[in-house]
Amino acid sequence: MKVTLLNQNFDAINADFEVIFIVGGDTAHRFVKDGDKFDFFDYKGEGNLLLSEQKRLYIGIKALEYDRVRVGVAQAYNTLKNLKISNFKIAFYDCGCTKKSAMAMAEGAVLGAYEFNKYKSEKKSYTLNEIFIASDTYTGSTLEADKAGRGVKFGTIMADAANFAKNGVNEIPEIYTPHKMADEAEILASNYDDVSVAVYDERFLEEEKMNAFLAVNRASAHRPRLIHLTYKPEKCLQKVVFVGKGLTYDSGGLSLKPSDYMLTMKADKSGALAAMAIIKGAAELDLPFEIHAIIGATENMIGGNAYKPDDVLISRSGVSIEVRNTDAEGRLVLADCLSYAQDLNPDLLIDMATLTGACVVGLGEYTSGLLGNNEELKLKFKNLTKASGELFTILEFNDYLRELIKSNIADVANTASSRYGGTTTAGLFLDKFIKPEFKDKWLHLDIAGPAYVEKAWGYNQFGATGAAVRANLYYLMALQKELEKRG
Ligand code: BES
Ligand code: ZN
Ligand code: ZN
Repeated sequence: MKVTLLNQNFDAINADFEVIFIVGGDTAHRFVKDGDKFDFFDYKGEGNLLLSEQKRLYIGIKALEYDRVRVGVAQAYNTLKNLKISNFKIAFYDCGCTKKSAMAMAEGAVLGAYEFNKYKSEKKSYTLNEIFIASDTYTGSTLEADKAGRGVKFGTIMADAANFAKNGVNEIPEIYTPHKMADEAEILASNYDDVSVAVYDERFLEEEKMNAFLAVNRASAHRPRLIHLTYKPEKCLQKVVFVGKGLTYDSGGLSLKPSDYMLTMKADKSGALAAMAIIKGAAELDLPFEIHAIIGATENMIGGNAYKPDDVLISRSGVSIEVRNTDAEGRLVLADCLSYAQDLNPDLLIDMATLTGACVVGLGEYTSGLLGNNEELKLKFKNLTKASGELFTILEFNDYLRELIKSNIADVANTASSRYGGTTTAGLFLDKFIKPEFKDKWLHLDIAGPAYVEKAWGYNQFGATGAAVRANLYYLMALQKELEKRG
């Protein structure tokens, strides 16, 4: 999908179809000017009106919110893709289009047009492959074309990055092994001058005493990989380290998942793909941050050599872990990866993981959990990522929950003694591996819900959504602005 900003009046643009956004507030219907005539648009605050003869589609949105714009453009694409047209033009009816709304339109188009059809023998092909955004809105107020052009560029990069993550997450576990993930990271790095990659195998993990990570891998036919991607531009305001859970399959291990719960566990690599996609997006956006992605890639399988409930693992940081459930494997891999990540001395440390089913139960499928020790940082992250449309709910640690992961024979247990508060106790487990000097610089994103949803929603198709990719890129863009203003 190509999105182009044209520095032209909407009417002057030659296109196969036109799409007009009506920002309606509470109004139930509108008369929309069409030359000397009016179209009657009864959209009850929100809804679409397709006028096939006039080759016009009205999209009604309640308010000029960026996520409504994204959803609206995705809907326009999906409504029009079955027609034999190759492009459409788009504008707001009676409000100015800004850099941010141009960005949201581009994102909505590129996200909305994503498809994972690799395994369908009958692939639908659409002729619709280009969208023109008018630098003049429908009723004539001009936006600054170069600013809007940058908006389109940024929006396309954001959505491309999210789509990159979706492709990896949607790929099947037979193909997408830790080795494959490492290959993909190498291809990614080779595409950008300022991105480099180091891939480590089990010998390195042994040298580094990453015994928690190694234990999870033990019964898998595929060897583990620690993947370290680095994006280092000339100008760096801060060092940001992302850590991603890269379980290419999570069967639960000996604490085997019931069949219904095992299904979709190819998506347990979503944190890893988010980390890779952020590197891709940052490199294309030229963000002035040194960014690292530390990825723990392995499967969690069963077998005679599997790690067991009752085992005690000595992690890289020296903290001993009592294994009480082999299905709580993500936190074991993350424990060692977080320890490794702190050696890089980050200004900001963010881990991303499909960590707990409890997060999906508690927050629903569309929202990620946002955890950490620093209340201010959590609020800042929540506020600065709002424009991305991704949803986060802040969860708080407390000492009563901290009690629940105490172990009788080791420093910490990998599951809590109560079945309540599972997302928070998982976060508290990770906190055990955060050194005092990084406590306030660390955020944990539990993306178990939105990373993979078995139905289409908003501008997302069935399956992977690229959760946390755009949110983090929006965060970094806003942080850049803040740091540059401070000077
Ligand atoms: N990968 C799962 C969490 C998950 C569940 C992600 C559903 C997406 C959808 C994780 O490794 C896991 O199995 N967690 C256990 C932890 C429990 C054993 C303490 C869970 O949530 O049941
Ligand atoms: Zn698990
Ligand atoms: Zn898992």
